[in-house]
Amino acid sequence: MQFLVQPGSVQDAAVAVPGDKSISHRAVMLGSIATGTTHISGFLNGEDCLATLAAMSAMGVDTEQSDATTVTVHGVGLHGLKPPSSALDMGNSGTAMRLMAGLLSGQAFDSTLVGDESLTGRPMQRIITPLEAMGASIGSRGGRPPLEVKGGLSLRAIHYDLPVASAQVKSAVLLAGLYAGGITSVSEPAVTRDHTERMLAAMGVDVSTGNGRIAVPGGQELQGGTVEVPGDLSSAAFVLLAACISDSADVVINKVGVNPTRTGVIDILRSMGARIELDNAGMRSGEPVADIRVRASQLRGIDVDPSLVSLAIDEFPVLFVAAACADGVTRFSGIGELRVKESDRIGAMAAGLRELGIHVEETQDGAVVHGGRFGGGTVRSFGDHRIAMSLAIAGTVAESAVTVLDTDAVATSFPGFTALFRSLGATIEEAGS
Ligand code: S3P
Repeated sequence: MQFLVQPGSVQDAAVAVPGDKSISHRAVMLGSIATGTTHISGFLNGEDCLATLAAMSAMGVDTEQSDATTVTVHGVGLHGLKPPSSALDMGNSGTAMRLMAGLLSGQAFDSTLVGDESLTGRPMQRIITPLEAMGASIGSRGGRPPLEVKGGLSLRAIHYDLPVASAQVKSAVLLAGLYAGGITSVSEPAVTRDHTERMLAAMGVDVSTGNGRIAVPGGQELQGGTVEVPGDLSSAAFVLLAACISDSADVVINKVGVNPTRTGVIDILRSMGARIELDNAGMRSGEPVADIRVRASQLRGIDVDPSLVSLAIDEFPVLFVAAACADGVTRFSGIGELRVKESDRIGAMAAGLRELGIHVEETQDGAVVHGGRFGGGTVRSFGDHRIAMSLAIAGTVAESAVTVLDTDAVATSFPGFTALFRSLGATIEEAGS
């Protein structure tokens, strides 16, 4: 699939974006090992979360998806999962594979985790090291998938100082910690998304947080319940971008998750001059939510504060496009982790922006983007959903048509992306490859 984008910026509207990916994965996984039933609304019906749902079904969990965004999970309890009859396919999802590896380390049976070509190239040693320190045994191909997780081992609690700021690694250790004797704890070098901690607490688990240390005593039962998944701020970020760089749009995005461990994109865009306001703030299933209003803005280049990187980790493709539309120069530093996401996102964005006529300098862990005007052209997504969507939004303000190649992966996180942007007045069509 390809996106064909004609120039024409978005217009005034009120929209909602699909459910939060991180929270949807966790609701299915934690609901599965809970006691009782978990009712999930606002579930992200994207390929990544469907891979998690299929994996839990393959381990004997009874799940029903009564409509696209409503899922019921009949929990089997901490020790109720059954051996899967074949390898569990995590598709494109790093979150699914890394969290599942933690969960599976504590099971009585062996299991294998596989993924697509992109996931098979991604680093897994970062979870293997702490999980093996807990007594797990995980085979890999030089630290990459497939992962062969041995069952029937007894796990022991550890304290782990995360060498990289990663919510996936933190969560993998905490999930294994549920099966370990003693209190498992982690410290993080920078704050990362805390959805696992919040959902464990909401399901009645004693989990303590403070001073950058998160601790969970093993052996606790989780209690299933209701999870209302908010809109995904990482998907809303494409709307924020499109409205900011538009001629005159005034857009409201309803009921978006605004957990402070995720809102770096709002802070960074605001410091570039974006007009973004939060209204109707409230809580849903232990997570902060709000309506976000964003208006067309004159953006200016900045030095992006490296302390915000872990709070905006998935939004740098969006921020690169914002930087290209800003007056002056934007400097990104401390973003080396972007090189091991679904694609090398620094390289992929630099290539895409250059193709559209923007001057970008690249370093190993950063980039300098010089504001300019987008010409038209054909750009590659490198099979990465967020690269595809960011470059499509660039196309809405380009001087001529932009074609984005290889856009199938958008279905992993943002079903209905092109329809939503058409409803905002953009001219984005999908075409077969
Ligand atoms: C996620 C954590 C982040 C993020 C990913 C989702 C999660 O990955 O990039 O999209 O749900 O825990 P890292 O832990 O690798 O930073």
